[in-house]
Amino acid sequence: MVTLKDGIRDRTARIGVIGLGYVGLPLAVEFARNGFDVTGFDVDVSKVGDINAGRSYIIDVKTDDIATSIRAGRLRATTDMSHLRDMDAIDICVPTPLRKTKDPDLSYVVQAVDAVKAHLRPGQLVILESTTYPGTTDEVVQPALEETGLKAGVDFYLAFSPERVDPGNQTYSTRTIPKVVGGVNALSTELARDLYGSIIETVVSVSSTQVAEMVKLLENTFRAVNIGLVNEIALMSHRMNIDVWEVIDAASTKPFGFMPFYPGPGLGGHCIPIDPFYLSWKARQNGFECRFIELAGHVNSSMPTYVVERIGEALNTVRKAVNGARVHLFGVAYKKDVGDIRESPALDILELLHRRGAAVTYTDPYVPTLHHGDITLCSVPEDDTGHGVDCAVICTNHTVFDYPNMVKQFPLIVDTRNALKTIRADHIFRL
Ligand SMILES: NC(=O)c1ccc[n+]([C@@H]2O[C@H](COP(=O)([O-])OP(=O)(O)OC[C@H]3O[C@@H](n4cnc5c(N)ncnc54)[C@H](O)[C@@H]3O)[C@@H](O)[C@H]2O)c1
Repeated sequence: MVTLKDGIRDRTARIGVIGLGYVGLPLAVEFARNGFDVTGFDVDVSKVGDINAGRSYIIDVKTDDIATSIRAGRLRATTDMSHLRDMDAIDICVPTPLRKTKDPDLSYVVQAVDAVKAHLRPGQLVILESTTYPGTTDEVVQPALEETGLKAGVDFYLAFSPERVDPGNQTYSTRTIPKVVGGVNALSTELARDLYGSIIETVVSVSSTQVAEMVKLLENTFRAVNIGLVNEIALMSHRMNIDVWEVIDAASTKPFGFMPFYPGPGLGGHCIPIDPFYLSWKARQNGFECRFIELAGHVNSSMPTYVVERIGEALNTVRKAVNGARVHLFGVAYKKDVGDIRESPALDILELLHRRGAAVTYTDPYVPTLHHGDITLCSVPEDDTGHGVDCAVICTNHTVFDYPNMVKQFPLIVDTRNALKTIRADHIFRL
C-alpha cells in the first residue's frame, strides 16, 4: 500500500486505462499530461493504431496532446492485455449498453474484468468507471477478481468512480469536473481519492461502491425525468397554442427552485436513454417498481414519432403528404457540436420518415456517412442543400449551421431545438 501511495504522490505509478473511448481516452491523456506513465488497452486495433500514431478520434481530445505524450514516452496503447500485470492502477472504462430487452449488458465489463483477473497481482488498485447499477463492483467485479485468491481491500484495492465527462462541453473538462469515489473499504477509497486527486481539482469520497454507483444513476435519472417532464409540457403547450420555449425562458428568471430543461426530438447518446434502465432493472430485482423512470422513458421515446407528426402537419399547410415529400434533416448527432450518433433520435426520425415514403437526406458536418438498418446516406454539404426540398428539420442545433440562410432557403422548417429562436416566420414550426 505504501508503495502505491508513494507512486501516486511522486507520479511513478503506472496507470492502465481499459477502453479508450469517450471516457477512457480523455482520462488516459490527462494522467499522461500530468506526468504519469500511461498504457491504454483496447480491443479495437484501429483506435490503438491511431493513438500510437499520435492521432485523436475524440472531439474533446486534442491530437497535439496525444502526440506530445506519445513523443515524451508517457502514453502508449495496446491490445495486449498481458501488460496489465505491469500496471499499478487500472481504470475500466468499457461500454455498458442495454440488451434489446432493456436489461443491463455487462458483457464488456465482465470481459475487461476477466483480463484484469488473468494478470492481477498484489498491490494493484482497480477502479470501475463504467456506468452501472448499484452492486456491480461488489457483486460482480470483486468476486471475479477474488477468484485469484487475492482479497479485495487487503491484497489489491477496488473502487468505483462514476465518469461525468460531457463530450462537447467547452466549460468543464476532465480536470475540472469533480470526481466521486467509493471503495470496497476505507483504504481502497483513500487510494482512489489520491489517484484522482493528482489530476482532478475536486474529489468527493463516499462511503461505499454502491453509493458511488447510485450517484451516477441519480444524476442521469434526474436528467431523463426532467426532460420527460418538459417534453410533456411541450406537447401540452402545443395543444394550448402556447410557446413552450418562451415559458421556459421566463420561468428561468426565477433565481431559486427552478432549473431549465428543454424539450427536443428525444433522448440520445450513451447515457441518458440507457442509465435509468440500469437503475430500474436493479430496483426490480429488489421488488421495487420505478414509476418515474418508466414514465419518462415512455414520454421521451415517443418524441421522434411526435416530430414526424409535426413534419406531417407542416407539409399539410402546403397540401403535401409525407409520402413522396423530400425532407432534409439538419444534424443527426445526438447533441450539438459532437459526432456521436449512438441512440440519436434523428435516426428514429429518419427511419419513420423513410417508412412513410419520404425521400430523406441530411447534413451533419460531424457525421460524414450514416448507416442505419438498411439505410445508408452521405452528408450533403450545407451549401448544396435546398434544391427541391419540401421540408427541413433541425434535429441537432450544431453551432456551425447557417440558420439565417436556412430560413431563406427552405419552404418549411420544423425546428425541434429552438435553434431559430430569434427568427419568427410562418413557415417555421417549433416543437
Ligand atoms: N460517453 C459519455 O459521454 C459518457 C459519460 C459518462 C459515462 N459514460 C460511461 O462510460 C463507459 C464508457 O463509455 P464510452 O462512451 O467511453 O464508450 P466508447 O464506446 O466510446 O468506448 C469504449 C471503448 O471500450 C473498448 N472496449 C470494449 N470492450 C473492451 C474490452 N473488453 N477490453 C478493452 N477495451 C474494450 C471499445 O473498443 C471502445 O473503444 C460507459 O459505461 C458509459 O455509460 C459515458
